Amino acid sequence: MTILITGGAGYIGSHTCVELLNSGHDILVLDNFSNSRPESLDRVKELTNKSFKIYKIDLLDKAAVEKVFSENEIEAVIHFAGLKAVGESVEIPVHYYHNNITGTLILIDVMQKYNVFNLVFSSSATVYGIPQQVPISEEFSLSATNPYGRTKLMIEEILNDVYVSNNNWSIALLRYFNPIGAHESGLIGEDPNGLPNNLMPFISQVSIGKLSELKVFGNDYTTPDGTGVRDYIHVVDLAKGHLKALEKIVTFNGVEAYNLGTGKGYSVLEMIDAFEKASGRKVPYVIGPRRPGDIAECFAKPDKAERELGWKAEKGIKDMCIDSWKWQSQNPEGFQTNEHRNKYASTLKS
Ligand code: NAD
Ligand code: UFG
Repeated sequence: MTILITGGAGYIGSHTCVELLNSGHDILVLDNFSNSRPESLDRVKELTNKSFKIYKIDLLDKAAVEKVFSENEIEAVIHFAGLKAVGESVEIPVHYYHNNITGTLILIDVMQKYNVFNLVFSSSATVYGIPQQVPISEEFSLSATNPYGRTKLMIEEILNDVYVSNNNWSIALLRYFNPIGAHESGLIGEDPNGLPNNLMPFISQVSIGKLSELKVFGNDYTTPDGTGVRDYIHVVDLAKGHLKALEKIVTFNGVEAYNLGTGKGYSVLEMIDAFEKASGRKVPYVIGPRRPGDIAECFAKPDKAERELGWKAEKGIKDMCIDSWKWQSQNPEGFQTNEHRNKYASTLKS
């Protein structure tokens, strides 16, 4: 199948490109590199020994998006492109709504024009808002607590409307829990701009010495050790979930939501402990106040994905931490420099 990957240079997109190429699919990547670097795609090529077209295009540029569809026989789209920083979305909501929602509207419009009706969309566990209970299943009520979350919720609703208007559509809404880890090669991984917002890249940067200590956001939650509990999922497991979703959508018309999580929650303190074991380094931390908007506990009931997609997360917390550390220690500056990668490549060859 020829698949267009929007946002394919990003963290989850690049890992999904690897899995798709290794499974024999043809891919095209569309990205404006607003939160990623072309080097990630060089490494995808290196890892898979396969080539593919890369379009440096903004989804908001409809004419450019149309050109991609007119030049290629696209059969399905995996739509990762979007902005994702919760705090930033509160500061610049219009930019988030425009980028994420208008970008998606343009994509859908062009897909319809070119009769491409297979779509896998990157949604998020954030659409469950403040869940009434855990584990969270797909039929829980949906809400949003910030503009970023509202873009995901609105796009899910838009996609439902689009299907009602045209029953040719086959759409999977993949609600990711907390993706962490990196490809086991250490060649691709998460490369946040500036100070990381999320726990795992923050811990990794403390471990490598780029940041002095982690601030634990609250230890007075109603959880076993008082710190926030999340469902961390290895990014390679998540990437594989996209292949399973693709296989599924070509068999039905409609819109289906799937939780992609492990079903198990870990606290912040448990994550620190697991990372210290994986890296052999201490992670200095202090307990700070709660982060506004954070919830105590969030983990998935992933049964629907197992039942309907035949997908189940395979990697545990140890692999997640080992692979995050490998990526961070081999690429202390992320994709900015090839020096460490070259060093690593020469040790592999010898
Ligand atoms: P990322 O920022 O690494 O990747 C997103 C990619 O989209 C980047 O390469 C960026 O340059 C590109 N992009 C953004 N706006 C674009 C536009 N207008 N035109 C073209 N390209 C554009 O993020 P990620 O972690 O890989 O997340 C991928 C998707 O999954 C996002 O939609 C995100 O909201 C969603 N998601 C992520 C998480 C997470 O914790 N990482 C959790 C749930 C959902
Ligand atoms: N945390 C800290 N210190 C930090 C960063 C995080 O203690 O420096 C804690 C948080 O309070 C939370 C846990 O670590 O308890 C995980 O926080 P993250 O920021 O890594 O992840 P969130 O669960 O808050 O949110 C992430 C994405 C959202 C997405 C959600 C569900 O940032 O966009 O997962 O997919 F919606």
